[in-house]
Amino acid sequence: MTRLKMGIIGAGGIAQGRHIPSFRQLEDSVVLTAVQDLNKDRAEEAARLFDIPHVFENYEDLFQKVDAVTICTPNKFHAEIAIAALNAGVHVLCEKPMAITTEECTRMIAAAKKNDRLLSIGYHYRFTPEAQLAKKAMDNQEIGDPLVTRVQAMRRRKVPGWGVFTNKDLQGGGSLIDFGCHLLDLALWLLDDPKPVEVMGKTYDRLSKTPGQVNDWGAFDHETFDVDDHVTSYITFDNGLSLQFECSWAANIKDDDTKLSISGVDGGLSVYPFELYQAKYGALWDSSAKIREGEPKPGLYQAKNFVDSCLGQDELIVKPEQALQVTKLMEAIYLSSETGTSVKLD
Ligand SMILES: NC(=O)c1ccc[n+]([C@@H]2O[C@H](COP(=O)([O-])OP(=O)(O)OC[C@H]3O[C@@H](n4cnc5c(N)ncnc54)[C@H](O)[C@@H]3O)[C@@H](O)[C@H]2O)c1
Repeated sequence: MTRLKMGIIGAGGIAQGRHIPSFRQLEDSVVLTAVQDLNKDRAEEAARLFDIPHVFENYEDLFQKVDAVTICTPNKFHAEIAIAALNAGVHVLCEKPMAITTEECTRMIAAAKKNDRLLSIGYHYRFTPEAQLAKKAMDNQEIGDPLVTRVQAMRRRKVPGWGVFTNKDLQGGGSLIDFGCHLLDLALWLLDDPKPVEVMGKTYDRLSKTPGQVNDWGAFDHETFDVDDHVTSYITFDNGLSLQFECSWAANIKDDDTKLSISGVDGGLSVYPFELYQAKYGALWDSSAKIREGEPKPGLYQAKNFVDSCLGQDELIVKPEQALQVTKLMEAIYLSSETGTSVKLD
């Protein structure tokens, strides 16, 4: 069978921790061929650790050796590199968020279409077993028409102290664009891509701008910190749905908490852990699923879906048009917070 030749651009934490090990587990269908990083030592380290034969200093050269790339650079470079790859005839799996602005996302989609190449985004929460069950339950109308969705993506005192996560120029934002985006994406997917019409948002940075913070994920500089560490939002959709959203890297709460729940006309569900809340036989009726040991890890499932789709054997689960909607909502949340008014979307 033909194996997909995969290149890695940006050989840092997520490349070495998730993508490369996942592709290594799919050796029948994909071969890691080349790696590139602005920091050449990083690229060489990854090549040595994972037995990748080619190291390049610029990505244009890497494109000549591969069928697909996985982009794992800071967010600022996602659009530029993805468009260059697509124009070189290379499929793209780009880390999340798709890009910082909707305009960049639109250009990425246009490049994928023009060159007839695949483009997907690393919204891997969709590949968790709980999210897969929730999608099946939604598709099977277990809760009827959805009405209200609640999202909480909360960490207690865990501002990432490594990399460039607290740098607005390179990342475009903080807790929302880094962590909240996953749960926003998951909510939109489960709700079957409703059309947002109005967004109210509020961002905070006061805790992280205050010197001497206790932080569980390493040290960061409160003076250069210029992104959000806590965000709330209220979003309405054209079909009457509403979504209450909160995310944080640094909340003063008892424990970290990742929650997504949907109340519908006939029932409700919670994703983490997966539970259904219904009324049956004259009683309130709760059911839950046992997630079996040995389910593929989300990173592996994501890698397999992308590789198989590039080989024409599957269909992408994360479509770029859906990822664009997440960026559009995040842009609106940031704008709403800046202007102090709600943002109406077309
Ligand atoms: N899906 C997830 O849950 C998840 C988790 C962590 C990070 N990410 C995303 O992955 C991306 C990278 O994050 P990370 O944690 O690996 O960061 P990192 O800092 O560990 O690694 C980034 C690497 O990119 C390299 N780099 C920077 N600019 C470059 C450029 N223009 N061209 C080539 N290489 C470049 C850096 O030298 C570094 O080695 C970000 O977009 C982030 O949002 C996603």
